[in-house]
Amino acid sequence: MQITLTQPDDWHLHLRDDAMLRAVAGSTARHFSRALIMPNLVPPVVTGNDARSYRARIVKAVEEALPGSNFTPLMTLYLTESTDAGDVVQAAADGTILAVKLYPAGATTNSASGVTDIDRVMPVLEAMAQHDIVLCVHGEVTDSGVDIFDREARFIETVLEPLRRNLPELRIVLEHVTTREGASYVADSTKNLAASLTPHHLMINRNHLLAGGIRPHYYCLPIAKREEHRQALVNAATSGDPGFFLGTDSAPHTRATKESSCGCAGVFNAANTMVCLASVFEEAGALDKLEAFVSLNGPQWYGLEPNRSTMTLRKETNETPLPDVITVGDDRVIPFDPARPVYWNVVDPDFS
Ligand code: NCD
Ligand code: ZN
Repeated sequence: MQITLTQPDDWHLHLRDDAMLRAVAGSTARHFSRALIMPNLVPPVVTGNDARSYRARIVKAVEEALPGSNFTPLMTLYLTESTDAGDVVQAAADGTILAVKLYPAGATTNSASGVTDIDRVMPVLEAMAQHDIVLCVHGEVTDSGVDIFDREARFIETVLEPLRRNLPELRIVLEHVTTREGASYVADSTKNLAASLTPHHLMINRNHLLAGGIRPHYYCLPIAKREEHRQALVNAATSGDPGFFLGTDSAPHTRATKESSCGCAGVFNAANTMVCLASVFEEAGALDKLEAFVSLNGPQWYGLEPNRSTMTLRKETNETPLPDVITVGDDRVIPFDPARPVYWNVVDPDFS
């Protein structure tokens, strides 16, 4: 069995910088035509100038890793309480950025410069609503009193819903949705709200992370939830609803920083996202909905044309091996293990 799709895009990607950027850039460019690049570097990508120089570093790294690829990075700015609305509007107007990212302070990896109180960034959000600039949201509250498994649902009730009522014209992506509550909140909304979904949240639940031993390579934020939530996410991804699209949240960390007494959050899935998704959609009897999820819904939301290039995936009789471990300096990045056999392969494009 073989399927050909419009070439996919990744609407949520961490590429990092320096040696890590050079090590992982090819994994995305091999399959994806465009990716929305997360700004949580240390220090973060805050201004239009930061985004332009980071974009140039990414383009260079991709050219070196995979000469001849058609990859285009689409940039975001990291929203802080001192972000200048004028700079955001200018960076969107001149094509430097496609979106702005809101991290609640302390929610996840490299989010210390994030927002402690949404009221403090209202002038920027109002300018974004006026100029039709998309806000991408890491949707978790950070109060230590809220259980980590409840942080997404609580964010929707206490931050997202009030924000949307206050500023209905602001277009928002609730990123890497992990709960039934999140999926139905987005599915039921009628305007200006979309969601990205990751391959790992479509394939693993919290038992994969915690039962029979702790598996740090499945630790990411938002944390994987119960099986019933995973099933709700699969239903959303395979529904054909244009409000759901792929954001891999591929987030490389070295093995030493993952396998640690305080391990980093993030799953590195760039290299096998597409073969994993073919498997998930086939199992759901929804291969005909895969193209909408990976290649059509995202560009439509962002007001871009779908790619002209195509990707062909083929189902093989033998199990597809896991991607190679990636070397970074004297450490390694371990790719996502979907915890089940996958039989799909990317035939073309594959610039390797
Ligand atoms: C991301 C990272 O490592 O930058 N980690 C993660 O678990 N997803 C940050 C993020 O997107 O939350
Ligand atoms: Zn992320």
